[in-house]
Amino acid sequence: MASEVQPKKKGPEAVPRMQPAMMMFSSKYWARRGLSLDSAMFDQQHTGGQMLRRTSFGRIDEKPDREDKPVTHDSGKTTVVFSVKNEVGCLVKALRLFQEKQVNLAHIESRTCRRVPTEVEIYAECSCTKTAFNELVQYLKNHINVICCNTPQHAWTTDGDGDGVPWFPQKISELDQCSHRVLMYGSELDADHPGFKDQVYRQRRKYFVEVAMNYKFGQPIPRIKYTVEEVKTWGVVFRELTKLYPTHACREYLKNLPLLTKLCGYREDNIPQLEDVSTFLRERSGFTVRPVAGYLSPRDFLAGLAYRVFNCTQYVRHSVDPLYTPEPDTCHELLGHVPLLADPKFAQFSQEIGLASLGASDEDVQKLATCYFFTIEFGLCKQDGQLRAYGAGLLSSIGELKHALSDKAAVKTFDPKTTCYQECLITTFQEVYFVSESFEEAKEKMREFAKTIKRPFSVYYNPYTQSIDLLKDTRSIENVVQDLRCDLTTVCDALGKMNRYLGI
Ligand SMILES: [Fe+2]
Repeated sequence: MASEVQPKKKGPEAVPRMQPAMMMFSSKYWARRGLSLDSAMFDQQHTGGQMLRRTSFGRIDEKPDREDKPVTHDSGKTTVVFSVKNEVGCLVKALRLFQEKQVNLAHIESRTCRRVPTEVEIYAECSCTKTAFNELVQYLKNHINVICCNTPQHAWTTDGDGDGVPWFPQKISELDQCSHRVLMYGSELDADHPGFKDQVYRQRRKYFVEVAMNYKFGQPIPRIKYTVEEVKTWGVVFRELTKLYPTHACREYLKNLPLLTKLCGYREDNIPQLEDVSTFLRERSGFTVRPVAGYLSPRDFLAGLAYRVFNCTQYVRHSVDPLYTPEPDTCHELLGHVPLLADPKFAQFSQEIGLASLGASDEDVQKLATCYFFTIEFGLCKQDGQLRAYGAGLLSSIGELKHALSDKAAVKTFDPKTTCYQECLITTFQEVYFVSESFEEAKEKMREFAKTIKRPFSVYYNPYTQSIDLLKDTRSIENVVQDLRCDLTTVCDALGKMNRYLGI
């Protein structure tokens, strides 16, 4: 059986199996899928939206409830996806709401709901005024289950002045929209997935989709009662990887893993709960995690990082081959990502990538996603003169972890300006790995790189309100300066006391 330890053969070369971190940014993966409702939504939202983006129509606000946004009455086209019970008359009732709100239906599609088999998902392309659409969405939310709206775009203005800035969450609760805008549910398995023919496994995956799709910001993350088989699978991964960490993982990882064992139950016979992990991370670095139902676009995923929120899968890979998974699973998240997210400097670096992505163009988001890929997923660092791994894709893969630190691997210095053009490989080990001297250094480089991203404002994360302040006028900048002045006063006071009491 092929696994990360025993790579697949392709021609004369050994080709390792796809690593869990790689699919998130794989456009090739999406190209394999036919033009389904999913792929249409993906194209519209995340690849520039050439299919349905029609600039001759006024764009419709993706955030109908944003208070500071002036209401305008321009007409436009947009979409809404909602689900109704698969019963006679239910769709008619829903469509009546469109009629009542005078929203014209330009196109409509339906499909069986993958999350709830007794429901049908409806994709409706509407032509109407912005106000009418906003009212309709509120109306639909009160009567039926709205899955997402304004699917065609990340390309509307945040302030209505036509500057074409893609929508992004401006407060942490708005991440619900990003995390629920799943491109492909985790229960949709490809024919070559180890669990494709296993109906019990597929049912189980549907359960995890349900949990994640029902989760909203602020709620405790539901505790999962993992099966004996799932714990056994996790146990194999845990046992094999922990053998390698002392010689392969960076010191920040090695510092945090024992703490996670002590405080979150990281053990061979126990799968840690995301809720416990989230509490742990919040105390160490301000990061939290939340469950996610499937694949997110790079834009939606990176937006979470801006708020120090990490989207995590909760399901366990199929038991047939514990050391291989074609997608990120909870073993990858818990063993690969979590120990590093507890490090304050790594957390800052991660947030820096997220902040840079807010409101960036599709092209710039792709560059940032590539930087994310070669750092947070496949990054190396130099410690005490030796290379060590800090990327989660490496730290959750026995084969690639060994390879990346062997003399067979090519290594270059991490520099976002060039790293952002490196090809992310999805079915083989990476051609090159990027090394940073420290997270601090990597963060400074990302900050410099972020300055090259074209957007008509800077962003400032307000940790008190967990929101993003847009710095685009003197008033908003003044507020930040006042905060900084307060911090500087505290620092000056501390320096004065050191001088007075310690003679430093
Ligand atoms: Fe990952």
